[in-house]
Amino acid sequence: MIIEPKVRGFICTTAHPTGCRVNVANQIAYAKVQQKKLSSHSAISPKKALIIGSSTGYGLATRISLAYTYQASTIGVMYEKEASGNRTATAGWYNTAAFESFAANDGLYAQTINGDAFSREIKDETIAKIKRDLGKVDMVIYSLAAPRRTMADGTVFSSVLKATTDTFVSKSLDLRHNTIEEASIPTATEEEIESTIKVMGGEDWAEWIDALVAADAIEGNAITVAYSYIGPELTYPIYKEGTIGHAKEHLHKTANLITKEYQQRGIHAYISVNKALVTQASAAIPVVPLYISLLYKVQKELGTHEGCIEQINRMFTEKLLIEKPDVDKNGYLRLDDYELDSKVQEQINATWDKVTTDNLKDLADIDGYWDDFYTMFGFKLSGVNYTEEVDTAMSIPSIS
Ligand code: NAI
Repeated sequence: MIIEPKVRGFICTTAHPTGCRVNVANQIAYAKVQQKKLSSHSAISPKKALIIGSSTGYGLATRISLAYTYQASTIGVMYEKEASGNRTATAGWYNTAAFESFAANDGLYAQTINGDAFSREIKDETIAKIKRDLGKVDMVIYSLAAPRRTMADGTVFSSVLKATTDTFVSKSLDLRHNTIEEASIPTATEEEIESTIKVMGGEDWAEWIDALVAADAIEGNAITVAYSYIGPELTYPIYKEGTIGHAKEHLHKTANLITKEYQQRGIHAYISVNKALVTQASAAIPVVPLYISLLYKVQKELGTHEGCIEQINRMFTEKLLIEKPDVDKNGYLRLDDYELDSKVQEQINATWDKVTTDNLKDLADIDGYWDDFYTMFGFKLSGVNYTEEVDTAMSIPSIS
């Protein structure tokens, strides 16, 4: 079938297997170059990693970095759909099929579990695989971005993207028409805040670590990292002070709890505060796509723009896996350092008030935003012939 992008607002309902493969190959090429640059200052080198949320965005980049910069064996957990009938598989499915095939060719162990990471069953299945194949993991990355969480008793909690103090009225990019609109983001109820914390907070991360420790499937000196975002004041009402910010605050507290609880074993939990980037998760947050396209414009001009793979590689090679991890006063790894640079933020603030539908192309990197968006689903990659028929069915060696 000839696959074309079908974009509905902030989501694309199709994905291209060849394009996703090229996207993964490009990230692998970057990670391999970084491997050559690794020097003796990289004190720690993870060998057996578990990545929860491994198929797209930051989690995929993490898996690629660990495998190709550090030669680590990786087990990934994801929630993706394979192709059926006229429907293509999801991008994360194709990414993972490609990653596993590259890894197999390069003699790297890579296995994936597809299912709900929040569930006990998937935790048990993952742990059984770790014990069978790797014995124990020495690194656990928590990179889930989920819309909902189903509890063992069937209760479902949903993550909502709302303000928490006042209704937030702001300029926003209408992704359906590329126009600047005024978005009004309502205030969440207490229940909605709690529900978002259940989904995107740290409870499930802690449950994973507890389960791994209980099963003796994690090394004593293991490192675990969860990804977070803070952002500039401009987006505080929707992010840092919004429902998602409350969940992230819970995640941050969980890092301290995990480190404290497993201090004797030497397990250390970190928060890595990453840069805002176009991913399936961030595209869904109101106001953020406009901010990202202004950010891209400024950072590309300054030469400080990074994508997921560059961010994650820098996290490992320059912040985390060095003699003494480079953390801020709260203990966070700050990969948002370039984003929050005052020069960058001053320029964004200056353009924020001026940006309109008419000057959007000049003031914001709207093309860069959309390029990243399409790339995520395997479209618009150079070297791919999109007029060619492709087979949508693609198996993931470790799954089917
Ligand atoms: P993403 O949407 O690209 O990736 C989410 C991953 O979670 C995918 O692998 C997906 O399969 C998996 N997943 C979702 N629900 C699942 C479930 N129930 N069970 C198993 N796997 C499931 O998202 P992105 O942006 O890479 O986000 C990852 C983390 O990074 C999140 O915590 C996010 O808040 C954080 N982050 C993202 C930033 C951004 O701008 N995109 C910035 C800073 C942090």
